[in-house]
Amino acid sequence: MAGQIPQRFIDDLLARVDVVEVVGERVKLKKAGRNYSGLCPFHQEKTPSFTVSADKQFYHCFGCGAHGNALRFLMEYDKLRFPEAVEQLAGRLGLEVPREGADDPRAQARERKRKEGVNLLELSASFFRERLKMPEGQGAREYLERRGLSPEVQQTFGVGYAPDGWEALKRHLSERGVAEAVQVEYGLLVHREESGRTYDRFRDRVMFPIRDIKGRTIGFGGRVLGDAKPKYLNSPETPVFHKGRELYGLYEARQADHRLERVVIVEGYMDVVALAQFGIRNAVATLGTSTSEEHLTRLFRMVSEVVFCFDGDRAGRQAAARALETVLPLMIDGRQARFLFLPEGEDPDTLVRREGAEAFQDRITCASPLSEFLFDQAAAGRDLARIEDRERYASQVLAALARLPEGVLKSLMLSELSRRTGVEASSFATLLARSRQAAPEPAAGPGESAPMGEAAGEMPEAPPLGERAPPARRSGSLSLAARALQLLVHEPELVAQLPEADDWCPEEDPDGRLCREVIRLLRAGRYRSAQVLLAHFHGTPEGERLAALARRELLIPRPARGAELEGLVSHFLRHRERRSPQEEIDTLLAREKAGERLSREEKQRLMVLLTELHR
Ligand code: UTP
Ligand code: MN
Repeated sequence: MAGQIPQRFIDDLLARVDVVEVVGERVKLKKAGRNYSGLCPFHQEKTPSFTVSADKQFYHCFGCGAHGNALRFLMEYDKLRFPEAVEQLAGRLGLEVPREGADDPRAQARERKRKEGVNLLELSASFFRERLKMPEGQGAREYLERRGLSPEVQQTFGVGYAPDGWEALKRHLSERGVAEAVQVEYGLLVHREESGRTYDRFRDRVMFPIRDIKGRTIGFGGRVLGDAKPKYLNSPETPVFHKGRELYGLYEARQADHRLERVVIVEGYMDVVALAQFGIRNAVATLGTSTSEEHLTRLFRMVSEVVFCFDGDRAGRQAAARALETVLPLMIDGRQARFLFLPEGEDPDTLVRREGAEAFQDRITCASPLSEFLFDQAAAGRDLARIEDRERYASQVLAALARLPEGVLKSLMLSELSRRTGVEASSFATLLARSRQAAPEPAAGPGESAPMGEAAGEMPEAPPLGERAPPARRSGSLSLAARALQLLVHEPELVAQLPEADDWCPEEDPDGRLCREVIRLLRAGRYRSAQVLLAHFHGTPEGERLAALARRELLIPRPARGAELEGLVSHFLRHRERRSPQEEIDTLLAREKAGERLSREEKQRLMVLLTELHR
């Protein structure tokens, strides 16, 4: 890895480039007053709502909310990573990007090697694609047709064919001056120790290039056309390819939607490609390994939600249990993991072809949240009416909870466990603390604690209250009113869904009062933009507060934001009624006991209330 780019250089760079120029090279801009405007490149539109400000060195789209500086624009528009965007901007000014510790010769050698390998692999990928079109590719073409892969999706994924024969690729590459040793190093040739002979690794196989996040080919998976073994052959570990960290289809998924917020992890190449063909373009696959922590860490840098997809059989259940173990420690604020089980005997490829995209999408939407899967899994095969079984059930859940980072999810799950087992949450908290040999948490107090009816300012960080809203736990110490305000700052359009009267905003919280003002302003003005809001309050303490909330990353996926705000509003409305939490709990529990099914929102509400009571 190249060294870090010094922050000073980045600041300097941003001060010297002009965002209007950078954007103007890619988007047609017209001068409009002090700003420039044009059609937003990040969403479809017919009338321009995209503006670029030379004063502020900032672009902003009133339609979709895309905004940022020149670097951000390059990253989004050219799909570059941060250092690449810096390189590009620096290049315009003829500047060399300094790196901390850049004179490390080993780092330089590694970088050289990476370039060499990628080149060679690109060359091979296009060789395979060419061969698929030639007469010798006929069998492979027929195979792909039988599997129902459209020409378009084959092209998107760069599918090719490795011809039968021992030296087709070897000859092709050698003619282009690539040394055999290098071909061996990058996994394209196999070297036989005994004979000293080398030959093509991939023969008579349909070839799936595996690309890194920038779209560079780093390896291959090859499938036999018939039933021979092994069914899939993958590139071995090479200087650029590490099975345990790469995900097939991630590049393509990001190409399809570079604001990707959710990724579905499936098992196979064919699953990714088939789903994409049916319009579900956010699937990725591990390469014949189980999902590793590194896979998930990389994914969670890009998206906030991961849906694991498994076969419904025993092997699938086991794989899911492993995935759960792996993902638990990563479940920090704002992340979501869900589990989807397919009917036995189906994989995503067969299922999406059989029941169509919409039905499959519904399955994804209805996948179990991590909490539900965890409880279900612990309950499987146990009779919870029996004390011993209940004890084992509780231990299993506690062992999992011990791996969760501190946060709302954890405390909610503790109180849910308490509800399900009838054991006080405080005893679990003690057990947990002991099992981790950490200091006991203050989180769970005695069950008899004072009702929380009056103490609006002391509300615990409540979980999302809306339907299926993911935990908005990233908000750290934000009050609920601040969270509502933050949602509005990031997503002013949401003002449209708020109730006519603004008396739900808690008066006693300064953020609640500011929230009212913001709503009034948004309703009065035509614009639905954070920029205008910030400009309005500029130079006042409220302006600073809003700017701070705007800077704070909102990790709730965009589609869930409306529900989140709605949940907050109905929480405040309920709270206004000043019903005591105990009363509310009693009502909900009574309804549940009477055999009524509580809605998801009501269940969540119940968990919140229980946590509050245990604080
Ligand atoms: P599956 O056997 O489930 O394959 O392996 P699939 O994706 O359904 O393939 P089709 O539909 O028969 O073509 C799932 C994944 O496991 C890895 C591959 O990554 C494959 O996509 N695998 C499987 C191997 O690496 N080697 C094998 O021999 C088999
Ligand atoms: Mn399959």
